[in-house]
Amino acid sequence: MDTEGKIPSSVAIIMDGNGRWAKKRLLPRSAGHAAGMTALRKIAIHAATVGIKYLTVYALSTENMSRPKAEVDFLIDLLRRYFSDYIPEIKEYGARIRVIGDVSVFPDDIRELMEKAERDTATQNKLVFTIAVNYGGRDEIVRAVNRAVEDGEKVDEKSFSSLLDTEGLPDPDLVIRTGGEVRVSNFLLWQGAYSEYYFTDVYFPDFDEKEFDRAIEAYGRRDRRYGRLKKGDK
Ligand code: FPP
Repeated sequence: MDTEGKIPSSVAIIMDGNGRWAKKRLLPRSAGHAAGMTALRKIAIHAATVGIKYLTVYALSTENMSRPKAEVDFLIDLLRRYFSDYIPEIKEYGARIRVIGDVSVFPDDIRELMEKAERDTATQNKLVFTIAVNYGGRDEIVRAVNRAVEDGEKVDEKSFSSLLDTEGLPDPDLVIRTGGEVRVSNFLLWQGAYSEYYFTDVYFPDFDEKEFDRAIEAYGRRDRRYGRLKKGDK
């Protein structure tokens, strides 16, 4: 990987294109989601291996939850399988697991699997692997505002950040979106204020280690200015 030495510490991924990947192969959408789950196993392990410190993935948005019941049920079952079959392996790579989003809608057994994964990995720090489920950036902000109102304290940017689901996580340096759409889709709205965005046409099930490295390399060529002038400009 040629990164000119600049590797992002924190990477987030909008995993899009499962349905189109399946359609192209005349398969049901569920096959695309299952293939996406396998891709996510590889990407998490790869991220830990190449020295990414924080990886946050958009596994289920609040909006995804209103898809047809059969698809939502399938995705929820996939989540169960991901936590029971894949997380134990990913854990071995030193990953700390974290879940964000409103998990109250999930069955007890899945919530328990999530809590167990968080508990069992609480002291690991090679990679903080955060999985966003039933997550929406606006919903997260509204919940945080309500918490601030309940606390009755004025907030500033720092204290407000700590009311969000991502409390304690750094903002993403790089947000990757697969699947060809060029939009943010309610993901990490607050946290992405100064992120670099990388969009690729590759459908998520085909997003492999090589494609991930390509995104990291593209980040290495970006000039992050956070609203300031370019060096040498006045
Ligand atoms: C968007 O593809 C993706 C999702 C709605 C789900 C993302 C899930 C995975 C990558 C699998 C891993 C999942 C879990 C639960 C751990 P889409 O269906 O919108 O694709 P399309 O835009 O091509 O129709």
